[in-house]
Amino acid sequence: MNVMRQTDDTTATAEIKIAAKGVQVYYGDNHAIKDVDVDIADRTVTAFIGPSGCGKSTFLRCLNRMNDTIDICRVEGKITLDGEDIYDKRVDPVQLRAKVGMVFQKPNPFPKSIYDNVAYGPRIHGLARSKAELDEIVEKSLRRAALWGEVKDRLNAPGTGLSGGQQQRLCIARAVATSPEVLLMDEPCSALDPIATAQVEELIDELRSRFAVVIVTHSMQQAARVSRKTAFFHLGNLVEFGETGQIFTNPRDPRTESYITGRIG
Ligand SMILES: Nc1ncnc2c1ncn2[C@@H]1O[C@H](COP(=O)(O)OP(=O)(O)O)[C@@H](O)[C@H]1O
Ligand SMILES: [Mg+2]
Repeated sequence: MNVMRQTDDTTATAEIKIAAKGVQVYYGDNHAIKDVDVDIADRTVTAFIGPSGCGKSTFLRCLNRMNDTIDICRVEGKITLDGEDIYDKRVDPVQLRAKVGMVFQKPNPFPKSIYDNVAYGPRIHGLARSKAELDEIVEKSLRRAALWGEVKDRLNAPGTGLSGGQQQRLCIARAVATSPEVLLMDEPCSALDPIATAQVEELIDELRSRFAVVIVTHSMQQAARVSRKTAFFHLGNLVEFGETGQIFTNPRDPRTESYITGRIG
Protein backbone atom coordinates (compact mmCIF):
# COMPACT_ATOMS: atom_id res chain seq x y z
CA MET A 1 0.00 0.00 0.00
CA ASN A 2 1.13 3.48 -0.81
CA VAL A 3 2.01 4.91 2.59
CA MET A 4 1.25 8.62 3.17
CA ARG A 5 -0.26 8.73 -0.29
CA GLN A 6 -2.25 11.84 0.54
CA THR A 7 0.69 13.99 1.49
CA ASP A 8 2.13 14.21 -2.00
CA ASP A 9 -0.76 16.12 -3.55
CA THR A 10 -0.26 19.28 -1.53
CA THR A 11 -0.97 21.45 -4.56
CA ALA A 12 -4.68 20.76 -4.12
CA THR A 13 -6.26 23.45 -1.97
CA ALA A 14 -9.36 21.83 -0.57
CA GLU A 15 -12.40 23.88 0.32
CA ILE A 16 -13.66 23.93 3.87
CA LYS A 17 -16.68 21.66 4.19
CA ILE A 18 -17.26 21.81 7.93
CA ALA A 19 -16.08 24.57 10.21
CA ALA A 20 -16.27 24.10 13.98
CA LYS A 21 -15.64 27.02 16.29
CA GLY A 22 -15.54 27.17 20.07
CA VAL A 23 -17.17 23.77 20.48
CA GLN A 24 -17.81 22.65 24.05
CA VAL A 25 -19.49 19.39 24.97
CA TYR A 26 -20.74 18.44 28.42
CA TYR A 27 -22.19 15.18 29.69
CA GLY A 28 -23.80 16.49 32.87
CA ASP A 29 -20.81 17.93 34.76
CA ASN A 30 -18.23 16.16 32.63
CA HIS A 31 -16.68 18.73 30.28
CA ALA A 32 -15.76 16.32 27.49
CA ILE A 33 -14.80 18.73 24.67
CA LYS A 34 -13.06 22.00 25.51
CA ASP A 35 -13.27 24.92 23.11
CA VAL A 36 -12.39 23.07 19.92
CA ASP A 37 -11.90 24.86 16.60
CA VAL A 38 -11.33 22.78 13.51
CA ASP A 39 -11.91 23.04 9.78
CA ILE A 40 -12.69 19.88 7.82
CA ALA A 41 -11.60 20.13 4.20
CA ASP A 42 -13.70 18.78 1.36
CA ARG A 43 -12.43 15.76 -0.59
CA THR A 44 -9.84 15.06 2.02
CA VAL A 45 -9.42 12.44 4.73
CA THR A 46 -9.04 13.94 8.19
CA ALA A 47 -8.00 11.61 11.02
CA PHE A 48 -8.84 12.14 14.70
CA ILE A 49 -6.32 10.46 16.98
CA GLY A 50 -5.64 10.46 20.71
CA PRO A 51 -5.84 8.29 23.80
CA SER A 52 -9.03 6.50 24.74
CA GLY A 53 -11.57 8.77 26.43
CA CYS A 54 -10.08 12.02 25.04
CA GLY A 55 -13.30 12.92 23.21
CA LYS A 56 -12.75 11.76 19.61
CA SER A 57 -16.12 10.03 19.30
CA THR A 58 -17.88 12.82 21.16
CA PHE A 59 -16.50 15.44 18.80
CA LEU A 60 -17.22 13.32 15.72
CA ARG A 61 -20.86 12.96 16.85
CA CYS A 62 -21.16 16.76 17.04
CA LEU A 63 -20.64 16.92 13.28
CA ASN A 64 -23.94 15.22 12.44
CA ARG A 65 -25.78 15.95 15.68
CA MET A 66 -25.71 12.35 16.85
CA ASN A 67 -25.13 13.72 20.35
CA ASP A 68 -28.72 15.04 20.21
CA THR A 69 -29.77 11.46 20.90
CA ILE A 70 -27.89 11.42 24.25
CA ASP A 71 -30.08 13.03 26.92
CA ILE A 72 -27.40 14.37 29.24
CA CYS A 73 -25.24 15.69 26.41
CA ARG A 74 -25.02 19.45 25.81
CA VAL A 75 -23.21 20.97 22.83
CA GLU A 76 -22.15 24.64 22.61
CA GLY A 77 -20.30 26.61 19.95
CA LYS A 78 -20.83 26.82 16.23
CA ILE A 79 -20.56 24.17 13.54
CA THR A 80 -21.30 24.97 9.93
CA LEU A 81 -21.67 22.77 6.87
CA ASP A 82 -21.03 24.80 3.70
CA GLY A 83 -21.45 27.88 5.84
CA GLU A 84 -24.86 26.88 7.27
CA ASP A 85 -25.22 26.42 11.03
CA ILE A 86 -26.11 22.74 11.55
CA TYR A 87 -27.51 23.48 15.02
CA ASP A 88 -29.96 26.06 13.67
CA LYS A 89 -33.54 25.34 14.80
CA ARG A 90 -34.64 25.00 11.18
CA VAL A 91 -32.23 22.14 10.49
CA ASP A 92 -33.82 18.69 10.62
CA PRO A 93 -31.22 16.34 12.16
CA VAL A 94 -32.51 13.41 10.09
CA GLN A 95 -31.92 15.35 6.87
CA LEU A 96 -28.56 16.48 8.18
CA ARG A 97 -27.50 12.86 8.80
CA ALA A 98 -28.34 11.97 5.20
CA LYS A 99 -25.80 14.63 4.19
CA VAL A 100 -23.32 13.77 6.92
CA GLY A 101 -23.34 9.98 7.05
CA MET A 102 -21.80 7.84 9.75
CA VAL A 103 -20.14 4.45 9.98
CA PHE A 104 -19.58 2.91 13.38
CA GLN A 105 -16.92 0.80 15.03
CA LYS A 106 -18.90 -2.40 14.99
CA PRO A 107 -20.54 -3.17 11.64
CA ASN A 108 -24.28 -2.78 12.32
CA PRO A 109 -26.28 -3.89 9.27
CA PHE A 110 -30.04 -3.88 9.81
CA PRO A 111 -31.67 -7.32 10.09
CA LYS A 112 -32.77 -7.00 6.49
CA SER A 113 -31.54 -8.11 3.10
CA ILE A 114 -28.38 -6.66 1.56
CA TYR A 115 -30.59 -4.78 -0.90
CA ASP A 116 -32.89 -3.38 1.77
CA ASN A 117 -29.96 -2.23 3.91
CA VAL A 118 -28.72 -0.05 1.09
CA ALA A 119 -32.21 0.99 -0.08
CA TYR A 120 -33.22 2.05 3.44
CA GLY A 121 -31.98 5.66 3.33
CA PRO A 122 -33.06 6.36 -0.27
CA ARG A 123 -36.54 5.03 0.63
CA ILE A 124 -37.05 7.15 3.74
CA HIS A 125 -35.73 10.22 1.96
CA GLY A 126 -37.73 9.53 -1.21
CA LEU A 127 -34.66 9.60 -3.45
CA ALA A 128 -35.94 7.12 -6.06
CA ARG A 129 -39.08 7.55 -8.16
CA SER A 130 -39.20 3.96 -9.39
CA LYS A 131 -37.94 0.47 -8.61
CA ALA A 132 -35.47 0.80 -11.48
CA GLU A 133 -34.09 4.01 -10.01
CA LEU A 134 -33.78 2.41 -6.58
CA ASP A 135 -32.01 -0.61 -8.13
CA GLU A 136 -29.59 1.81 -9.73
CA ILE A 137 -28.85 3.60 -6.46
CA VAL A 138 -28.32 0.28 -4.68
CA GLU A 139 -25.92 -0.97 -7.35
CA LYS A 140 -24.01 2.31 -7.51
CA SER A 141 -23.67 2.43 -3.71
CA LEU A 142 -22.49 -1.18 -3.50
CA ARG A 143 -19.98 -0.51 -6.28
CA ARG A 144 -18.79 2.61 -4.50
CA ALA A 145 -18.29 0.52 -1.36
CA ALA A 146 -16.29 -2.06 -3.37
CA LEU A 147 -18.82 -4.77 -2.48
CA TRP A 148 -20.94 -5.19 -5.62
CA GLY A 149 -18.92 -8.02 -7.13
CA GLU A 150 -19.19 -10.06 -3.95
CA VAL A 151 -22.94 -9.66 -3.39
CA LYS A 152 -24.62 -8.98 -6.74
CA ASP A 153 -25.94 -12.55 -6.93
CA ARG A 154 -27.39 -12.57 -3.44
CA LEU A 155 -28.95 -9.17 -2.88
CA ASN A 156 -31.88 -10.78 -1.07
CA ALA A 157 -29.68 -12.59 1.45
CA PRO A 158 -29.50 -11.09 4.93
CA GLY A 159 -26.83 -8.44 5.45
CA THR A 160 -25.97 -10.01 8.78
CA GLY A 161 -24.83 -13.17 6.98
CA LEU A 162 -21.84 -11.42 5.41
CA SER A 163 -18.32 -11.52 6.84
CA GLY A 164 -17.30 -8.70 9.20
CA GLY A 165 -15.37 -6.86 6.51
CA GLN A 166 -18.24 -7.22 4.04
CA GLN A 167 -20.71 -6.02 6.68
CA GLN A 168 -18.62 -2.92 7.24
CA ARG A 169 -18.51 -2.23 3.49
CA LEU A 170 -22.30 -2.79 3.45
CA CYS A 171 -22.62 -0.13 6.15
CA ILE A 172 -20.47 2.17 4.02
CA ALA A 173 -22.74 1.43 1.02
CA ARG A 174 -25.76 2.23 3.20
CA ALA A 175 -24.16 5.52 4.24
CA VAL A 176 -23.24 6.57 0.69
CA ALA A 177 -26.66 5.61 -0.70
CA THR A 178 -28.20 8.91 0.41
CA SER A 179 -25.52 10.83 -1.54
CA PRO A 180 -23.91 12.34 1.53
CA GLU A 181 -21.28 15.05 1.34
CA VAL A 182 -19.39 14.01 4.44
CA LEU A 183 -18.66 10.56 5.83
CA LEU A 184 -17.86 10.18 9.51
CA MET A 185 -16.18 6.92 10.50
CA ASP A 186 -15.62 6.00 14.13
CA GLU A 187 -12.85 3.38 14.26
CA PRO A 188 -14.36 1.59 11.26
CA CYS A 189 -11.66 -1.09 11.15
CA SER A 190 -11.22 -1.91 14.80
CA ALA A 191 -13.42 -5.02 14.57
CA LEU A 192 -11.87 -6.17 11.27
CA ASP A 193 -8.98 -8.49 10.40
CA PRO A 194 -5.94 -7.09 8.56
CA ILE A 195 -7.20 -8.06 5.09
CA ALA A 196 -10.62 -6.51 5.61
CA THR A 197 -8.90 -3.48 7.14
CA ALA A 198 -6.74 -3.06 4.04
CA GLN A 199 -9.85 -3.27 1.84
CA VAL A 200 -11.66 -0.61 3.86
CA GLU A 201 -8.55 1.61 3.78
CA GLU A 202 -8.38 1.27 -0.01
CA LEU A 203 -12.03 2.19 -0.12
CA ILE A 204 -11.51 5.27 2.05
CA ASP A 205 -8.83 6.37 -0.39
CA GLU A 206 -11.39 6.17 -3.21
CA LEU A 207 -14.20 7.78 -1.23
CA ARG A 208 -12.15 10.92 -0.65
CA SER A 209 -12.44 11.82 -4.33
CA ARG A 210 -16.13 12.59 -3.67
CA PHE A 211 -16.57 13.16 0.04
CA ALA A 212 -15.01 14.81 3.01
CA VAL A 213 -14.05 11.82 5.17
CA VAL A 214 -13.39 12.06 8.90
CA ILE A 215 -12.01 8.95 10.52
CA VAL A 216 -11.41 8.29 14.19
CA THR A 217 -8.65 5.77 14.54
CA HIS A 218 -6.80 4.05 17.29
CA SER A 219 -4.02 3.18 14.94
CA MET A 220 -1.42 5.79 14.16
CA GLN A 221 -0.25 3.63 11.26
CA GLN A 222 -3.75 3.81 9.84
CA ALA A 223 -3.91 7.58 10.28
CA ALA A 224 -0.56 7.87 8.50
CA ARG A 225 -1.73 5.59 5.68
CA VAL A 226 -5.14 7.06 4.95
CA SER A 227 -5.27 10.68 6.04
CA ARG A 228 -3.96 13.96 4.78
CA LYS A 229 -4.85 15.94 7.89
CA THR A 230 -4.61 14.77 11.47
CA ALA A 231 -6.12 16.20 14.64
CA PHE A 232 -4.65 15.06 17.95
CA PHE A 233 -7.05 15.18 20.91
CA HIS A 234 -6.01 14.92 24.54
CA LEU A 235 -8.29 15.25 27.59
CA GLY A 236 -10.99 16.98 25.57
CA ASN A 237 -8.60 19.49 23.97
CA LEU A 238 -7.62 19.63 20.35
CA VAL A 239 -3.89 19.82 20.97
CA GLU A 240 -2.62 19.91 17.42
CA PHE A 241 -4.08 19.87 13.94
CA GLY A 242 -2.13 19.84 10.71
CA GLU A 243 -0.83 17.91 7.75
CA THR A 244 -0.54 14.25 8.71
CA GLY A 245 3.11 14.09 7.67
CA GLN A 246 3.99 17.03 9.87
CA ILE A 247 2.07 15.70 12.89
CA PHE A 248 3.88 12.38 12.72
CA THR A 249 7.36 13.56 11.84
CA ASN A 250 7.56 16.99 13.38
CA PRO A 251 4.88 17.53 16.04
CA ARG A 252 4.87 20.99 17.56
CA ASP A 253 3.33 20.11 20.92
CA PRO A 254 5.13 17.91 23.45
CA ARG A 255 1.86 16.07 24.18
CA THR A 256 1.55 15.08 20.53
CA GLU A 257 5.13 13.91 20.52
CA SER A 258 4.60 11.84 23.68
CA TYR A 259 1.56 10.20 22.13
CA ILE A 260 3.08 9.36 18.77
CA THR A 261 6.21 8.01 20.37
CA GLY A 262 4.09 5.85 22.67
CA ARG A 263 4.66 7.61 25.98
CA ILE A 264 0.98 8.45 26.55
CA GLY A 265 -2.17 6.65 25.57
N1 LIG B 1 -22.90 8.58 26.03
C1 LIG B 1 -22.13 9.13 26.98
N2 LIG B 1 -22.63 9.46 28.18
C2 LIG B 1 -21.86 10.02 29.14
N3 LIG B 1 -20.55 10.28 29.01
C3 LIG B 1 -19.98 9.96 27.83
C4 LIG B 1 -20.73 9.36 26.76
N4 LIG B 1 -19.90 9.16 25.71
C5 LIG B 1 -18.68 9.60 26.11
N5 LIG B 1 -18.73 10.07 27.38
C6 LIG B 1 -17.58 10.64 28.13
O1 LIG B 1 -16.96 11.65 27.34
C7 LIG B 1 -15.55 11.56 27.42
C8 LIG B 1 -14.98 11.34 26.01
O2 LIG B 1 -15.39 10.05 25.55
P1 LIG B 1 -15.31 9.60 24.03
O3 LIG B 1 -15.78 10.71 23.18
O4 LIG B 1 -16.01 8.30 23.93
O5 LIG B 1 -13.73 9.41 23.84
P2 LIG B 1 -12.90 8.61 22.74
O6 LIG B 1 -13.79 8.35 21.57
O7 LIG B 1 -11.74 9.49 22.43
O8 LIG B 1 -12.44 7.34 23.40
C9 LIG B 1 -15.25 10.43 28.39
O9 LIG B 1 -15.06 11.02 29.66
C10 LIG B 1 -16.50 9.61 28.37
O10 LIG B 1 -16.70 8.94 29.59
MG1 LIG C 1 -14.39 6.56 20.69
